[in-house]
Amino acid sequence: MATFKAPSLAPQNMVDLDRYPMAELASPEAARFARQCRQDYIETGLCMLPSFIRPEALEMLAQEANSLTGDAYFCKSTHNAYLTDEGDELDDTDVRRRQEETYVGSVPYDKIPGDAALRALYEWDPLREFIGAVLDKPVLYRFADIMGACSINVFRDGGEHGWHFDESEFTITLMLQPPEHGGTFEYVPKVRGKPDEQEIVGRVLDGDREGVVELPFTAGTLLIFGGNQTIHRVTRVTGDKPRLVPVLCFAEDPAAANSPEVRELFWGRRGDELNG
Ligand SMILES: [Fe+2]
Repeated sequence: MATFKAPSLAPQNMVDLDRYPMAELASPEAARFARQCRQDYIETGLCMLPSFIRPEALEMLAQEANSLTGDAYFCKSTHNAYLTDEGDELDDTDVRRRQEETYVGSVPYDKIPGDAALRALYEWDPLREFIGAVLDKPVLYRFADIMGACSINVFRDGGEHGWHFDESEFTITLMLQPPEHGGTFEYVPKVRGKPDEQEIVGRVLDGDREGVVELPFTAGTLLIFGGNQTIHRVTRVTGDKPRLVPVLCFAEDPAAANSPEVRELFWGRRGDELNG
């Protein structure tokens, strides 16, 4: 049974506010910083903030996440880059026929203790407001899904996430622990909607490295990522140290939640009794 220790740091002390003045958007300094992040997001499809979490808080968050990996549900699947189920009517050369492999575990939000430091960070309003500013969403809510609101992705030995576009417009992740080997986040920026999108996707799936960027996703980095427009993957992890990455979900609709089918896929439970 995992043991937990109550957070000794409040969120405003976990985040390096000297480096990233994001806590009080009403201040000119924070507003300027958020505008710069917004600009980065528009231009590159992502906003990456290295060392967003201070070292002592990072150690605490990583330790906490490691103690919860026993509650991860693991799922192996194959999917196309668009995460769609296609019938046989597709042309042989259609990239949507191509299958990628994913093997990842996830600790659901309802298995993260009420006094966890990660929960405190996720529920910290200034973080939600800052992310809203970067995404140009004046109103943003924490995701109303009991399992998916803030889950922890666990890539153990053999874990990987094949090339895909996300279904959601944006994804917020926090690197707590890179693995010993592999687990590199790779992407080809802003492919969706280009006239030659299909050709690019086909080449990427063939292993062509042209245009592929490796993200320096170091421990403590916060990533705000427009994963719906940018094809991306996590390369295969090897070694005993799991890659631990919480996924912090926010939505414009306060009632937005996953379907029972999605919960079943990612966490092995439909959760019908919990919420919609
Ligand atoms: Fe993704």
